[in-house]
Parts: sequence; structure tokens; C-alpha cells
Amino acid sequence: MCGIVGYVGKQNCTDVLINSLSRLEYRGYDSAGIAVFENGEIKVVKSKGRLTDLSARMETEGRPSGNVGIGHTRWATHGEPSDVNSHPHSGADVTLVHNGIIENYKKLKEFLIREGKEFKSETDTEVVAQLISYYYNGDPVEAIIKASKDIEGSFALGVVFRDFTDTIFALRRESPLIVGVGEDESFIASDVPAILQYTRNYYLLEPNEIAVLSPYSTKIYDQHYQAIEKELKTADWDMDAAEKQGYEHFMLKEIHEQPTAIKTTIASRITDGLPDLEECGITCEKLNSFRNIFIVACGTAMHAGVVGKYVIEKLARVPVVVDIASEFRYREPIVGDGDLVIIISQSGETADSLAALRLAKENGAKTLAIVNAKGSSIAREADMLMYTHAGPEIAVASTKAYMVQIAVMYLFAFELALAKGKISEDECKKLVSGLQNIPDVISGMLEDIDDSQYAAASLVNADSLLYIGRGLDYALSMEGSLKLKEISYIHSESYAAGELKHGTISLISENMPVIAVVTQPELAQKTVSNIKEVKARGAYVILVCSASITVDEDAYDLKLVVPDTDPLLMPMPAVVPLQLIAYYTSVLRGNDVDKPRNLAKSVTVE
Ligand code: AGP
Repeated sequence: MCGIVGYVGKQNCTDVLINSLSRLEYRGYDSAGIAVFENGEIKVVKSKGRLTDLSARMETEGRPSGNVGIGHTRWATHGEPSDVNSHPHSGADVTLVHNGIIENYKKLKEFLIREGKEFKSETDTEVVAQLISYYYNGDPVEAIIKASKDIEGSFALGVVFRDFTDTIFALRRESPLIVGVGEDESFIASDVPAILQYTRNYYLLEPNEIAVLSPYSTKIYDQHYQAIEKELKTADWDMDAAEKQGYEHFMLKEIHEQPTAIKTTIASRITDGLPDLEECGITCEKLNSFRNIFIVACGTAMHAGVVGKYVIEKLARVPVVVDIASEFRYREPIVGDGDLVIIISQSGETADSLAALRLAKENGAKTLAIVNAKGSSIAREADMLMYTHAGPEIAVASTKAYMVQIAVMYLFAFELALAKGKISEDECKKLVSGLQNIPDVISGMLEDIDDSQYAAASLVNADSLLYIGRGLDYALSMEGSLKLKEISYIHSESYAAGELKHGTISLISENMPVIAVVTQPELAQKTVSNIKEVKARGAYVILVCSASITVDEDAYDLKLVVPDTDPLLMPMPAVVPLQLIAYYTSVLRGNDVDKPRNLAKSVTVE
């Protein structure tokens, strides 16, 4: 989704803005622009395309020179990606950049047109620029507050006023925004990596707070124009965490970071060999009070929830419903007092997941957030919180975040099963120890990835493929399929292997490769029968299977072996070859692996 940056200080503002925007590229965008005060005038340069296109545009239109300005990467919502729809947008006195959606922009636009304002773009953003200008009467903060009262929707804004050449203003409602504080300089940004090369100190703006940044002071006001004091936070990531460190892509680096991410995420939550989730507000008493569990999330995070469902139901015998957040929020779910709603999110800002969390709370359910981004909206609003410690995930395709989401799902399931008396302490300790061993298993697997590369090479020209599995393997195949399609642009679906012959098997031919996941011994021979059915119909079969499961050699074309662990824990190592197949297929097809087309890392609009 859109990225906002802003700078006030002594450095060359254009350089700082471009540098900072490049750290937000992972969010996904289709155009970019900056506005910089040059000799007291606001100079705007913007362009459809990537930051390289913006730099090329500056070669012809001139590179703004100054110390104060704002910048933006746009992920189109209102109006196609084009030069004119790119941000910044301006009104008479105001130029601004915007992240989020203005829901009532049409009504506001009609009003402003009646007031004689003219619009250049199709965006909702230009409406905000015109509206703030409309209210502007010499006091920028007052104008921003007045306009914000008229605006419905979720947004963050970075604003400059023609009359205030050394100041930038920012407002946040739903969309995230931070204010970075350096020595005699300050910044605004949608996310911490944008400012890490300059400072690690920042304020997290709360909804409806307004920041006023000049070189020597940073002031923050509430919506009543009262100055407020805020806690200065320090980012615990360093630049290394946000750099590729020699890997060709962030995705590959993040796949390799998985063993460490698991260790960091689980280490402090295990005491004497048993799960210990008290610091997250999860006690035995609470666990015993929940009737039903809902897991609500989007995309990969939702797939982690599906793994969680299988494991919780198997071990703790508590019913779990997994819901796609965008469905949950509008289907009047039967959820309330006595229920637990678990929201899983890497970014903690996904609009549908946040709305689902709020709905669950309104209905009286208790909420638990499993979130990676510190201080994000979902993390702050949930009743209980379990951070995953994956560090910054930059690639749009989520890998290490999924891995640690699963890791905490296991810890939660173990604790719940223990609290419910469904497993003994000894059984629980065995499971925990198995989980602690997974990082080493994955590290071993990552030492030899030739088979995954070979599998990718065999898929590179496919138009469409199927992932199949049963039970946890089906849950895993959902994630494998999503990963492949989002970065390779090859159509793929995941299917419960036993469901194939109810329709989908008609698609099978020599042109439809099948990736079959077989890691669950009790279901293995059932899936093998399904594999033989697709093989007999001409499919090229790639088998991803545990070392100890035997499959007849004529049932597959290529086999990727996953070292044995407790079958319940197999999704963790078994997802690695699926991630690598997706990664190398994308590389071989020459795609932009870390920033796939049309996708955004943090989906802050519904
Ligand atoms: C994963 O590879 C995706 N890019 C996407 O499905 C993602 O998991 C989803 O948008 C949810 O994001 P969140 O975890 O930040 O809420």
C-alpha cells in the first residue's frame, strides 16, 4: 500500500526522501512523487512507475533542491496509475501525500466543486488537499483538524503549507505513521525501515494526532489542538535487518532467517520445557473459559490459522473456526461472550483483520493478536498479545512471518491442551522439545536446496498447477499454492486430495503439474492413491514427502524429501521446499520477486 515519507533538517531533502521511499518499496506501489521547498516555493515532481522512473523524471524536470519536503509511493485505489494521479496533490495553499481511503470523497468533491474548486486527478487524495485549503486561514493545524472532522475513512497524511517553508505537518487516523527524531532533523514515515538509516528514535502517532515538524522542534497535538507528550520509542531493528546482506532478494534472505526467527519467537515462552504464555496475558484459567475459538486473518496469515485449527482441534479438542477477515466482518458471525478470537497478522495493520478484531470485541469476545509489527494497531487493540519475533519482513511474499505464526500457534495449542487436561506434562514437554528442534532441522534443509531449484525449473513454463494434500498437508498446500501464484504469476490452486474426484480431476492432463504434499503417516497411503490417479492421467508429479514415508517410484516424477519430525510439526520444515519452489520459479521467470505486480505488503484498505 502507499508509503509516506517526509523530512525537515539540514540534509539534501530530495536524497533523503528518495532513500527513505526506497525502504518502503516493499509495500507495493505503482507511482511515486515528492514535493520539496526550493527557494521558498513548493516544487513537485511525480511519475507513474518505480522510483527509477521518478529519478529519470527529475533528470528532465530538475531535481528539487531544499531541506524540507514530503514523498510518496502510490498503490492505486481511486484512478489508474498515472502521472496525474500520482501524489503529491495540491490545493491553493496546501500540498500533501496520503495513505488510505477517503470513503466520502465523492460527497466532499461535489461540495468543493460547488465552492468553485477545480480538480486535476481522479483521486480521493486531491479532495483532501482542496478541503484543507478550503479551511486554511493562516493556522495549518486548525485547518487540518477542521478538514479531518469532515473526512470519513482511514488515512495518514503528510502535508506542507505554502506559507510554512520550514515545516511539515502530519495526521494519522487509521493508516500507520511514525515521526522519526534525529539531531536537528525529523522525519515522517509509514514504517520504521524508512528512517532507520538516519535515526532509530521515533514517536508512534495515535489516531487523530497531528505532528508539526520543524528542524529544531517536534510538536504533537490531539484532535482538540492540545499539545501532548509522547513516549519516544527506539526501534530494536538495525539497518542490517532491513538490508539484503548479500542475498539476491529479501525473500531468499527471509527464508534463510527462519531458524533464527523461530528460536527468538519461542525461546522466552518456554519455562522448564513447558509453554509459558503468561507474559502474553494467557493463563490456564482464561484458556479453560473459552467455549469456541475463531482464527481470523488474511492470506498467508490465514493459512497459518488453518494449521493452528488442525493442531488445536487435534490436541485440545476445542472447536476452531478459521475465517477470512473480509468475510468474517460482514457475515454477522455468531461470536460473543465466552469465545476467543485470534487475529493473526504480520503487519498488524491489515484493514479487514483490524475490523474483524473490533467486531469481535464489540460482540463481547476476548481477542488475542499474533502480530509481528511492534506497536501496530492490531497489537495495541487486542486484549491479549503474542508478538512474533521475525524482525522486519520486507518481501511481499510472506515466509518467515508465516513460520513464526505457526510456531506460536503450536505453543498456544500445547498450552491449551495441557490446560484442558488433554495431554500430560510429559507429552507436552515432548512436543515442546520437538518444536525447539525445528530450527536445526530447517537449517539443515537450507544447506541443500538443489532439489527445489530443479523442481522450479520443471515448472517454469507451466500455465497452471495443483497442490494437493490431506489434513495438515492440505493446510500446507494452501500456503504453497498462494506463494507460487503471487510471485510466479502461474495460476495454481490447492485442493484437498480426497476432493479431487468430485470435479477437479477433469482438469488433470500432461499440462497440469501437481505438487503433492505427504507428511502425515496416517493419511499418507490415502494421498498416495490420489497421486496415482493424477499420475495415471498424465500429470507431472512433484512429491514433497517425509523421509520415512514410502511412495512407489512410479507414482511421481520428482521427490523432495523433508527430514522426519513429529508429524504434527511437519508443516514447519515442509513449507520450506514450497517456499523455495515459488521463489526459484519466480526468479527463473524473470519476475520482480520481492515486489510482485499488483500486490502490497501491508493491505491497509479493504
Ligand atoms: C503473503 O505472502 C501475502 N503477501 C499476503 O497474503 C499477506 O499474508 C496478507 O495480506 C496478510 O497480511 P498481514 O499478515 O500483514 O495481515
